[in-house]
Amino acid sequence: MMAGINAQTRLYGVFGDPVAHSLSPAMHNRAFAHIGENAVYMAFCVQDIGKAVEAVRAFDMGGVSVTIPHKVSVMEHLDEVDETARAMGAVNTIINDQGRLTGKNSDCAGAVKAILEKTPIDGKDVVVLGAGGAARAIVYGLKEQGGKVTIVNRTREKGEALAAELRVDFQPLEALDQLACGIVVNATSVGMVPDVARSPAPASFFKKDMVVMDIVYRPLLTRFLSDAQDAGCATVDGIAMFVYQGASQFEWWTGKDAPVVQMRETVETLLGQR
Ligand code: ATR
Repeated sequence: MMAGINAQTRLYGVFGDPVAHSLSPAMHNRAFAHIGENAVYMAFCVQDIGKAVEAVRAFDMGGVSVTIPHKVSVMEHLDEVDETARAMGAVNTIINDQGRLTGKNSDCAGAVKAILEKTPIDGKDVVVLGAGGAARAIVYGLKEQGGKVTIVNRTREKGEALAAELRVDFQPLEALDQLACGIVVNATSVGMVPDVARSPAPASFFKKDMVVMDIVYRPLLTRFLSDAQDAGCATVDGIAMFVYQGASQFEWWTGKDAPVVQMRETVETLLGQR
């Protein structure tokens, strides 16, 4: 990290607007430092994504995380976009392989790894709440792992459209209580601060043997996860997906195993959980 910067240090970063509160610089710099990689990761508040991608080439940056509002518009500036990112319609990672820039999306892998920590996915019935960008990545990733996914969404048309596109089932929110599943994921923003008393599912929905994941990490213990814990479910909090999507980026960039324990510790500290 900082102390070791020299003429060989490789530059990485995040492009977004806003980025001032991004957790990624601290997380990736800790990871670089932990494995002794001569690299530094900075946050760049970017308005013109085309110019920023030119800078990746000009500075021979090692790689970049891409966030709101550039995940879609960045694609036209890259040399290649891989199959998963094309299916997502969004790139959140740029890899620079000797001047050739490839766009990838680490959200699918992040969701899958976070859940695999607690349960196998293959053959399991999975309910994903939500039909936005986060739900798309999670449904795609879990289906690829052999999960039998049902999307449940407040707005029927949006849920049905995503389910049809990804070839999974759809059920309306009212049917949630009748659905049996082994894995359930909240991929909506319901329960995020300041609306911490809200949950996208009634407490009666949770059964003891379910594995329950929330993408919301502010607060870390959402109403959704708290209700699930009360019912005896195993839970996966919102930091897990964030850390694992970052770990996938890190592994694509460095070719080395990401130090996920240290990455998680850094994020927990920033969020005031330690
Ligand atoms: P993202 O790309 O981050 O996933 P998004 O595209 O805005 O965000 O999607 C948000 C998801 O949360 C949607 O599925 C949305 O449901 P609708 O399609 O009905 O809008 C869901 N969502 C947001 N607020 C909600 C609420 N109060 N109750 C139920 N679902 C909600």
